[in-house]
Amino acid sequence: MGEEVENMPDSESGIHHFDNVDQVPYELQKYWHQRHNIFSKYDEGIWMTDDSWFGVTPEPVALQIADHISRAAPPQKKVLIDVFGGPGGNAIAFALSSRWDQIFVVEKDPEVLKCAKHNAEIYGVAKKIHFRLGDCIEVVRKVYRSLGGKAVIYGSPPWGGPGYRDDAIFNLETMQPYSIGVLYKAFEICTRDIVLYLPRTSNLNHLAKYGEEGKKFQVVHFCMNGASKALCAYYGDFSEI
Ligand SMILES: C[S@@+](CC[C@H](N)C(=O)[O-])C[C@H]1O[C@@H](n2cnc3c(N)ncnc32)[C@H](O)[C@@H]1O
Repeated sequence: MGEEVENMPDSESGIHHFDNVDQVPYELQKYWHQRHNIFSKYDEGIWMTDDSWFGVTPEPVALQIADHISRAAPPQKKVLIDVFGGPGGNAIAFALSSRWDQIFVVEKDPEVLKCAKHNAEIYGVAKKIHFRLGDCIEVVRKVYRSLGGKAVIYGSPPWGGPGYRDDAIFNLETMQPYSIGVLYKAFEICTRDIVLYLPRTSNLNHLAKYGEEGKKFQVVHFCMNGASKALCAYYGDFSEI
C-alpha cells in the first residue's frame, strides 16, 4: 500500500531538468519545445522523468479543468483526490485554487512523485497537497474510501494499449493498463463524483455505460488551435459546466 512522502532528495537518476535542446533525447524534443505551455514556470527548475513528458496535462488545460471541477462539483465536496498524479500538472492547478480543504495526490512511480512534489514547491503549493506513493486502486480502497462523502476523484490515467493514435474511435474497454470499467469500479467505491481525462476520440458508448440511468452526464472537450486535444467525462452530481 502507499506511503506518505516526506523528504525528497534533490535529484536522482531518471529525474531531469533540461535547460537546452542538446540535453534532450530526440523523442522528447517535440515536448520540450512546448515546455512553457506545459509548465509556465519551467525555467524555474521543473523536474520531469522521460515518460512524464508524454502524459502531463499542459497548464492551460489543467487550469481549465480545475476551474470546471471547482465550479461544478457539489458544494459540500471539499476534498480532491488526484489518483494519477504524474509530475503534478493537474495537481498544481487544483492547489492554486482555494476551493479545496484537502488535496490528495497518488502516484505509483517514486521518481515521478518526487517531480510532482518538487514542481508543486516551485508553484508554492506543495504544502497544500498530501503526496502518496502507491497504486491508486489499492490506496482508494484501503485509505481514501471513507472520504467519499467529502471527495471528488480526478483521474488522468495512462492511455496505453491498441489504437490511441491510430483508431478513429478509441476503445476504452481495451485501454491499458486500466480499462474504463476497471477505473470506474475502483473509484465508485469511494465516490460517484468522478472526473476522467481521456483521449479525444474516446468511444462515447463506453463512457455512457457508467453514467447513472436516467441522469445526464457531461463530456467536455478541450480544444487548442481549433482541434480537440482530450476530453473530460464528469460522472456523479456535477452541475452544468
Ligand atoms: C497521464 S499521467 C498523469 C499526468 C498528470 N495528470 C499531470 O498532469 O501531471 C499518468 C500517471 O499515472 C501513473 N500511474 C499509472 N498507474 C498508476 C496506479 N495504479 N496508481 C498510481 N499512479 C499510477 C503513471 O506513473 C503516470 O505518472
